[in-house]
Amino acid sequence: MYVLGIETSCDETAFAIVKDGSIILSNIVASQADLHARYGGVVPELACRRHIDLITVTLQQALQESQMTLEQIDLIAFTQGPGLIGALLVGVNMGKGIALATNKPFVGVNHVEAHLYAAIMNQELSFPALGIVISGGHTFFLKIESFGKYQLISQTVDDALGEAFDKVACMLGLTYPGGPQIENLAKKGDARAFTFSAGQVKKNPLDFSFSGLKTAVLYALRGQDGKLEPILDEQTKADVAASFQHIAFSDLIKKANLAVEMHRCKSIVLGGGVTANMLLRKMFQERCSLPLYWPNQALSSDNGAMIAALGYNKFKLYGGDDFTIQPFAKLGW
Ligand code: KG4
Ligand code: ZN
Repeated sequence: MYVLGIETSCDETAFAIVKDGSIILSNIVASQADLHARYGGVVPELACRRHIDLITVTLQQALQESQMTLEQIDLIAFTQGPGLIGALLVGVNMGKGIALATNKPFVGVNHVEAHLYAAIMNQELSFPALGIVISGGHTFFLKIESFGKYQLISQTVDDALGEAFDKVACMLGLTYPGGPQIENLAKKGDARAFTFSAGQVKKNPLDFSFSGLKTAVLYALRGQDGKLEPILDEQTKADVAASFQHIAFSDLIKKANLAVEMHRCKSIVLGGGVTANMLLRKMFQERCSLPLYWPNQALSSDNGAMIAALGYNKFKLYGGDDFTIQPFAKLGW
């Protein structure tokens, strides 16, 4: 079964063609990073306009690379939510439109569920598993009882982890998206140079808070009153990047180990853009004894292949073709 996956929830216009739920024939991601870089983050209105500009040409590229035509596609899967509502509308309507024009079935897919699914595509998993989503829009833990059966354990009370990376990168004078740049800069820095700490949330010790950590970075760079000239020397910047990254990941892993214990999880599945970070992968391997499931690097950030793969499984289990489905902005779990 050949599935066309469409992803437009944020600032990537992405199409992929995936065979039988796991064989990726093409996976094209048209990034809008250049458009949003000057604003230090995604501007929703600009994102949806750019999706409209890119959507047809990206679809054509995905078809070309897999040497297929729309007529040969068996199912259309698109991101239904969560995400930017205007951006989602572009992909949802494209998906429904292709389905109507070609008389093919279609299915809507949850974006964050697809991030986790990217790590396990057709692999056997020991349940219950701890699901960890760490992206630009989300940071939360889920208890995964079985495929499709989730219980939200905890989430961030302010910034998502990727968002904190992007904002700290901005303070360091790096361009959006900041995650990969912080990872690179941190390689030259000393993670013990600054003693930052991550936020603890009284109500739920497994919740996250990164706003205090961000402020601590700002103070380190500009002084407590924010009036100092920003520190510009490269070594100090690298030390700040390394210290920030190390404390953010230590906090995540400490809470993951606690969640595993409290919820008796047998494995850990990770998804979202921040999973591309190699230090994170190394630290998890060193500090956690459970089997870990990571998406391969190309599937860490937003892409159409994870949407097609999850769409294939959803369609097999529940069918599709509900023309009344609409995009949704919020997670809703
Ligand atoms: O999953 P994703 O592509 O989009 C959302 O669904 O939000 O995640 C994007 C986020 C950005 O905040 C980006 O800075 C972060 O993932 N990211 C990273 C790395 N690569 C991307 N964060 C840390 N280290 C990385 N190597
Ligand atoms: Zn995402």
